[in-house]
Amino acid sequence: MIDMHSHILPAVDDGVSNLKDALAMLRLAVKDGVMEQILTPHIHQARYERNNVERLGRKFREFRDIVEDQGIPIDLHLAGEVRIGPEVRELVENDQIPWLGEWNGHKTFLLELPSNSVPVGSDNLVRWLRNAGTLPIIVHPERNPVFQKFPEKLTPFLQMDCPLQITAGSLLGRFGRPAQKLAVQLLKEDRVTAIASDAHNLKYRPPNLGKGVKAAAKHIGRERAATLVTSSVFDLLMGDRHRMVC
Ligand SMILES: [Fe+2]
Repeated sequence: MIDMHSHILPAVDDGVSNLKDALAMLRLAVKDGVMEQILTPHIHQARYERNNVERLGRKFREFRDIVEDQGIPIDLHLAGEVRIGPEVRELVENDQIPWLGEWNGHKTFLLELPSNSVPVGSDNLVRWLRNAGTLPIIVHPERNPVFQKFPEKLTPFLQMDCPLQITAGSLLGRFGRPAQKLAVQLLKEDRVTAIASDAHNLKYRPPNLGKGVKAAAKHIGRERAATLVTSSVFDLLMGDRHRMVC
């Protein structure tokens, strides 16, 4: 499996806070069947002002060396989870987005909306991003109460071909019934491109992709569920040159 969304790069955001736990999380991910782990720290200037491409790249290389030394058999890559906001335009213009990869010539990245709202103008910003040659992947829409209440508000993003990534924990009921319900609905409507762990820590939000896939399989079958952590994700990662791997 490829896990395209996680906060396992230690001590850079609200994810895992120390190296020991980060290594333990990777070992759990390997046990779970993850062969490729994408580390996606928050890119959100108001909250994590030091998280930029250069600093995260440095931290990533240090961490990857340690993981190699420890002999943990997992392929690591760095991307980021970019919070929607007016500054995203500038980040794109200055090539300061930690790109995930490329899809049909469009540079892909994870785009996060606030946890409780869909800011007015989000669709306009996404339109600008599409016109700028990027493809934002909307992460965990099922956890947003606005989309839970009005799933049709996802339509503009889907019409712009934005892939949706849902969280494994949502399918397991970890984010409440409404999140689970919307996650299942999106799966059944074939609107989901990827399932990811969005793992943050060992205790409350551990690597759990395998369980998420099993839960998805109950609704859409094993074969289709498996593509959401393999081939579908791989498509969004094509064009390795855009990845911040140094
Ligand atoms: Fe995240």
